Amino acid sequence: MVQIAPSILSCDFARLGEEVQAVKEGGATWLHVDVMDGHFVPNLSIGVPVVQSLRKVTDLFLDTHLMITHPQQYIEPFAKAGVDSITFHAEAEGDIAEAIALIRSFGVKAGLAVSPDTPIEQVFPYLNKVDMLLIMTIYPGFGGQKYMPEMGAKILAAAQFRQEQGLDFLIEVDGGINTSTSNIVAKSGADVLVAGSAIFGKPNYGQAMQDICTAIE
Ligand code: DX5
Ligand code: ZN
Repeated sequence: MVQIAPSILSCDFARLGEEVQAVKEGGATWLHVDVMDGHFVPNLSIGVPVVQSLRKVTDLFLDTHLMITHPQQYIEPFAKAGVDSITFHAEAEGDIAEAIALIRSFGVKAGLAVSPDTPIEQVFPYLNKVDMLLIMTIYPGFGGQKYMPEMGAKILAAAQFRQEQGLDFLIEVDGGINTSTSNIVAKSGADVLVAGSAIFGKPNYGQAMQDICTAIE
């Protein structure tokens, strides 16, 4: 069974609380929170104050995706804001093992993300230390982009490595996931499917999530 993580990047931010409640009523147990700094990616999104407010109104698993240049600086504030997981990019500044340990020190689950141009083998040395590997299936920065089919090989390679090494990290995919792409990513080994526009762009969020799942054969 795959997990769907609705990405609030595509929601109506003026009605954030209602949007979160609507995906919860539609069956979501995770919420994907995209944090952008206008430097690591050419876009700005949300920060710690929004997460603090979200934590007060929802018990959903807050899956935080940091698309920022200096993740270490922000691990403590996000952890203290009450997120459940923090995922940062392998391409960001700073020591990867140190950042993972820092996330863990707050009792928060740790994830490592790879952008499309980063070979998956580059993060293999860290996968015994993480709870989750996030494979970007678009260039990070914006919702509503098209899934990059060539990322399928990375998902397969990560799943194979996990099996060979007897590891149990989750594989999350992010970008262009919808009813046409959910089957291939799930079949390749993805456990958590992030979806923004394919949920918040539809009139019925619960139905949209269900459609993404039923498209998996
Ligand atoms: C983009 C974000 C994604 C984004 C996905 O950098 O990491 O989480 O919201 O949006 P869709 O599902 O529309 O591709
Ligand atoms: Zn994301």
